[in-house]
Amino acid sequence: MCGIIGYSSKKKNAKDVVIAGLKNLEYRGYDSAGIATSENGKINLYKAKGKIAVLEDKLNNEVINASTAIGHTRWATHGEPNETNAHPHRVGNVTLVHNGIIENYIELKNFLLKNGVTFNSSTDTEVACAYINYIYQKSENKNKLQVISTACDEIRGSYAFSIIFDDELDTIYATRKDSPLIIGLSDDGNFAASDISAILDYTNKYILLEHDEFAKITCDDVEIYNKNLEKIDKEIMFANWSATEYKKNGYEHFMLKEINEQPEVISKLFNNYFENEDYLSINIADYDTIHIVACGSAMHAGMIGKYLFENFASIPVSVEIASEYRYKKQLITPSTLVIIISQSGETADSLAALRIAKEHGAKTIAIVNVVGSSISREADETIYTYAGPEIAVATTKGYTSQVAILSMLVLNAMKQKNILDDSLKNKVQEEIGKIKEVLSKVIDNSEKYIKIASAIKDKEHLFFLGRGIDYTLCLEGSLKLKEISYMHSEAYAAGELKHGTISLIEEGTPVIAIATDKTLYEKTVSNIKETKARGAYVIFITNNDEDVENYNDFADIVLTIPKVTELLQPLVTILPLQLIAYETAKMRGCDIDKPKNLAKSVTVE
Ligand code: AGP
Repeated sequence: MCGIIGYSSKKKNAKDVVIAGLKNLEYRGYDSAGIATSENGKINLYKAKGKIAVLEDKLNNEVINASTAIGHTRWATHGEPNETNAHPHRVGNVTLVHNGIIENYIELKNFLLKNGVTFNSSTDTEVACAYINYIYQKSENKNKLQVISTACDEIRGSYAFSIIFDDELDTIYATRKDSPLIIGLSDDGNFAASDISAILDYTNKYILLEHDEFAKITCDDVEIYNKNLEKIDKEIMFANWSATEYKKNGYEHFMLKEINEQPEVISKLFNNYFENEDYLSINIADYDTIHIVACGSAMHAGMIGKYLFENFASIPVSVEIASEYRYKKQLITPSTLVIIISQSGETADSLAALRIAKEHGAKTIAIVNVVGSSISREADETIYTYAGPEIAVATTKGYTSQVAILSMLVLNAMKQKNILDDSLKNKVQEEIGKIKEVLSKVIDNSEKYIKIASAIKDKEHLFFLGRGIDYTLCLEGSLKLKEISYMHSEAYAAGELKHGTISLIEEGTPVIAIATDKTLYEKTVSNIKETKARGAYVIFITNNDEDVENYNDFADIVLTIPKVTELLQPLVTILPLQLIAYETAKMRGCDIDKPKNLAKSVTVE
């Protein structure tokens, strides 16, 4: 989703700082970029389609010594990616950048057109800018906060705005509703930014702007106002991530770095939570049902949670896609616990689902990575994954840390229900002590993953097959492959293939089959043989080393992985799927960290 950074500086370096900040926001996904600089008594706009480097080429021809600037990376929602639709937008005396979607922009546009306003772009953002300018022109006292507040009362949808007015060129005004925005504080100047990554090179001090709050930002002061335009004091936060964590640190891609961080992240997470009994005040065992609500990979993590909660704690779980959940008939009762899973903590559908769950009286837990994100602040309780910043759009450590937290919650629930026997607890504890080495060993097998990637990289279609918890891992493996290699694949419950799609299997169709659940191993193998009999090229991933002599009956490539207790096995099994996707995308020459059309945090619905 779009990225915003505004900077009011004590020096004449605002352009460089904003451009550097936009580069740190690239991971959010974008297709055009722009900057507005204010100097010599006027605003200058520079915009470009494509990467920030194209914008920089434009700026290199200019002499810019601005002390205030606002910049934006645009992920197109309304209007194609081009220079006209790129932000910042400027109407009358107002220049603005925006992240979000204005839902009533057509209604506002028609009103403005009737009042003589003309438009250059086809964006909802230009309409918002024009409406703020309309209110500004009508305003007698030109009180900017009042102007913005009055305009926002009529603007429906989600927004994070950073705004400069012509008659106050050294001041940035900011406000938000549902889209994230923080206010950065430093000795050299102050910021408005979509997230901390944009400003960590300059400061780790920031203020969280809440919904419907307003900020007035100059180089030496920041004022925050509430919805009633009363000045308020806000807590100053300190980011616990460093700027270096936003660098590749020698890895070719952020995704490969983050895959390799997983052993450390998971090991630290278990050590942080396994012994620490009081990280959660909610007694999970008090609830009859659990709704796990999320999007994409977070939803896939939730499916792992379902199997583990039901198999080990006997608590019924329904896993819900957040964009469906938010509009469905709710059957929430006081004995329903709702768990929202979100790496970014800003996914619009997941945030909306959280609010709906709370409106219906559910107790809510959030499993989140980004500290201070909207979901983490609105849930009744939040369990942080502390995985560090995840820059690659395709989540890896974000997903596995979610799965690890869920396995901790299952143990928590078993303990509360007095069904956690010492043998299981001791086994899990013993394996947690070795998990870092086990995960590292699986990761350090790149030649196998390269061999598999070579075998599949030119194929049109591919199937992932598995049963039980392995099926949910297939879903995640399929998503990884699709989103970064642009190769079509489908994840199927192995027993389901015969009910239709086995018709798609032909000579050479790749099938990645997973069998780690001993109770379902034979069934899965017979399904694999059904595909093999029809010409499939089978890549078999298993932790069952007792069947070695039979592998070659049905598999072309066999990848054996370590066998650990079922509660921890998904953390092992997913790693080859992440690395197969990575190596395949690399061979296909794809933009691995910033796949086309995708954004790291989907802050619009
Ligand atoms: C996964 O690789 C994708 N990046 C995407 O499915 C992601 O998991 C989903 O958008 C949810 O994001 P969140 O965890 O930040 O809410």
